[in-house]
Amino acid sequence: MSRAISKVGTTSLFDSLVSLPCRNRYNGQQNHHLKGWRIAAILLRTAMELAARRPRRGRRDQIAKRLVTKFYREENMLKTLMMTAAVVALGTASAGAETVGFSQIGSESGWRAAETTLTRQQAEERGIDLKFSDAQQKQENQIAAIRSFVAQGVDAILIAPVVATGWDSVLEEAKEAEIPVVLLDRQIDGSDDLYLTAVGSDLVHEGSVAGEWLANEVGDGECRIVELQGTTGSSPAIDRANGFRKALEGKDNLEIVRSQTGDFTRSGGKEVMESFLQAENGGSGICALYAHNDDMALGAIQAIKEAGLNPGTDIKIVAIDAVPDYFQAMANGEANATVELTPNMAGPAFDALEKYWADGTAPEKFIQTESKLYTQSDDPQGEYEARKDLGY
Ligand code: AHR
Repeated sequence: MSRAISKVGTTSLFDSLVSLPCRNRYNGQQNHHLKGWRIAAILLRTAMELAARRPRRGRRDQIAKRLVTKFYREENMLKTLMMTAAVVALGTASAGAETVGFSQIGSESGWRAAETTLTRQQAEERGIDLKFSDAQQKQENQIAAIRSFVAQGVDAILIAPVVATGWDSVLEEAKEAEIPVVLLDRQIDGSDDLYLTAVGSDLVHEGSVAGEWLANEVGDGECRIVELQGTTGSSPAIDRANGFRKALEGKDNLEIVRSQTGDFTRSGGKEVMESFLQAENGGSGICALYAHNDDMALGAIQAIKEAGLNPGTDIKIVAIDAVPDYFQAMANGEANATVELTPNMAGPAFDALEKYWADGTAPEKFIQTESKLYTQSDDPQGEYEARKDLGY
């Protein structure tokens, strides 16, 4: 008998079993024997439908498929019943428990901590089993984590790539294993065939928003600007620098006089700002600071205060992220503006993955999050209160 015929035969067998009357037609008593068969048939049919409907989901599905195939070959009813139970158990377990590996950069900033917290929360709410790996700012750790996720046969991989280059081979490996990869908050230099989608903001636009705000604020006055850049080679450091410069084009009164990386950390921001202040006559030659994230700006604020100057007035400060501590600094008049980057990258990422898992729907290659400018007139104290318990 061909497999197709055997399948049709089995389906009608299920249908007959499913519609078995459970009561004795003569005395109206429950017929427990028939009822048992009916339940087993319903369970098995549901499990098989589930297994057939879902695209590739790793090893559990391969095992489930093997069991179903075996079922077709078996005559022995006891074995069939036991397999039914196994398939149902596997189906139930895998239906709500996809496994996702998350290679996070580290915990260099308050924003990064919030992204980690929200990713864990989102996974928990959706019944996703999240395997978390902290790369401690090292690309080699991220590559090792991705290889380990591939070896484990996870259902998807999330990665926040610490730098933009050097991902081709490892992402090829994930692709060959048919594991969808989603980039979170940072981009890579490489073909977009290597990943399912990227969730993030327009990083160049963020830099432009910061630059436009400053240009507006300064007007026609002369302004010497210092810049704290993010991690060298990372997409936000590259793009935020470019976007800011774009906004300053043709404005000869604004000049970036010093620029150095503070690695997106508070301590890095403080240390580099101290050297800027020293090099610029104790800070008298500096009109404004542009920091690629709030944490570096917060470190710089400390350095400016220690140098005897007033951050926010003697030196204007614009940054990116919108973390609670920075809102507090704005409320205190020590910082001027920030461009919001939502830490909830996982929400849109899991939405896209769930659709992909359900029926193979491919999302857009870039899912863009909003970038909103906040200034001192946007109730920074209220913003601080609203965000302070969100895991930053
Ligand atoms: O990639 C996003 C950036 O990385 C955030 O702006 C910064 O705080 C983080 O560390």
